[in-house]
Amino acid sequence: MKVISDIASLREVVSDCKRTGRSVGFVPTMGNLHDGHLQLVKRAKSHNDVVIVSIFVNPMQFGENEDLDAYPRTIEEDKAKLVNDGVDAVFLPSVSDMYPCGLKAQTYVEVPGISDVLCGASRPGHFRGVATVVSKLFNMVQPDDAFFGEKDFQQLQVIRTMVRDLSMSVNVHGVATQREASGLAMSSRNGYLSHEQKATASFIYQEMIRAKALIEQGNTQFSDIADSIVSNLEAKGFKNDYVSIVNADTLQRPVAGDKHLVIVVALFMGTTRLIDNLQVAL
Ligand code: PAJ
Repeated sequence: MKVISDIASLREVVSDCKRTGRSVGFVPTMGNLHDGHLQLVKRAKSHNDVVIVSIFVNPMQFGENEDLDAYPRTIEEDKAKLVNDGVDAVFLPSVSDMYPCGLKAQTYVEVPGISDVLCGASRPGHFRGVATVVSKLFNMVQPDDAFFGEKDFQQLQVIRTMVRDLSMSVNVHGVATQREASGLAMSSRNGYLSHEQKATASFIYQEMIRAKALIEQGNTQFSDIADSIVSNLEAKGFKNDYVSIVNADTLQRPVAGDKHLVIVVALFMGTTRLIDNLQVAL
């Protein structure tokens, strides 16, 4: 596996792929890799000739009081996992390569509307940071295909919208959420949880399954269902950020006849913010 830390070397690898007609699959990450990330790699491997993974903890998508400094950095373990999974190259840009003039002077990409609700409302500027870094990474890697987890459902929809709106020539693939046996969605932030908190966190999935069944049975009292998820999880010790049932494409309140919904949740367990979602097809 090639370990690339500067943009010029990355461009050489990419142009070699283009010259020899090999397709490039790309998996952007912030590292501390777990089986969820590795599922994206697996999909990329089955779809493309060459797989490039980036690891970059992107300061632009963290709010001022968020966990940028504490975010787990486990680069050696990550590299070993990627070698094991047959990744061709890992790209590890530095913050100064990514943002040579600093964050404040940086041109940015903003995807309106869909970025402003749910996580965007709780974390102002977050999706601007995500859209900006992902478009920069797309320009650097020039992938044919890029793979994102449905775990971050809103992020996936923001990226899809950006690619459409800016006519980017990348095929975006969504990959199903990988879960622990308990149902808890795998996440780098699960490492912040104590053993006990982790056990409690599995109630999130159980509550979403319960809500999904109600919706499938024809219950359209979406805000009542969301409220019941909140009160059941608050009783377990969670603090609510948002729980909502929305149209899966627009992330807006469902209207009659909508066929594809998603239950989206964000809750705090102690100081750790956990997000998850479950799609419902009607
Ligand atoms: P990160 O949180 O490292 O996630 C990288 C990719 O892995 C994302 O597409 C995310 O949705 C996916 N992923 C995480 N947990 C998953 C799980 N349990 N199952 C399936 N996929 C999962 O998301 C980011 O980094 C950043 O915002 C990034 C896109 C890299 C931009 O900085």
